[in-house]
Amino acid sequence: MTDKLPTLAIAPIDDADVADVVALWQACGLTRPWNDPAADIALARKESNATVLIGRDEDAIAATVLVGHDGHRGWVYYLAVDPVRRHRGYGRVMMAAAEEWLRRRGIEKLQLLVRADNSQVRGFYQALGYSEPERVIFAKWLDGRAPTP
Ligand SMILES: CC(C)(COP(=O)(O)OP(=O)(O)OC[C@H]1O[C@@H](n2cnc3c(N)ncnc32)[C@H](O)[C@@H]1OP(=O)(O)O)[C@@H](O)C(=O)NCCC(=O)NCCS
Repeated sequence: MTDKLPTLAIAPIDDADVADVVALWQACGLTRPWNDPAADIALARKESNATVLIGRDEDAIAATVLVGHDGHRGWVYYLAVDPVRRHRGYGRVMMAAAEEWLRRRGIEKLQLLVRADNSQVRGFYQALGYSEPERVIFAKWLDGRAPTP
């Protein structure tokens, strides 16, 4: 447990950040062929129930998180810390910012999905106090396409 959280300047994404954020997500292995990250950013920015938060270390984009809610639960996607800036507490700080963003909107619970092939990140979420409730996820593409992994 860190005694003191590091300082990151956290603010919603600007148009000028989009290309750098997409590059960070690619470098962090968070993109998938069936997800267009720029379109995901645009959709998150379209309504007031979601945003992409950027954490800056000096002038560099150090970390991101896409946070939003569906009117009931909060969700987080695209939590990413620049590979050369990991283990400084930035991931913890970005999750704290996402939690606060939701709390201010009256959302009481945050949920997130971890891919089965990213099991190493489970220790990170456990360190932040997240539990693994037993649930089964069902998913369906609404444009009729076949399921993706
Ligand atoms: C997961 C990720 C965001 C963590 O960022 P980070 O800035 O290195 O994490 P922090 O330094 O804030 O670590 C917070 C705590 O989690 C622990 N932790 C971090 N990475 C961990 C790991 N892989 N396994 C176990 N514990 C881990 C740290 O020990 C720390 O605990 P402490 O504060 O009690 O010492 C970063 O590794 C990342 O961007 N990974 C690739 C993208 C990804 O997988 N995102 C999540 C998708 S679900």
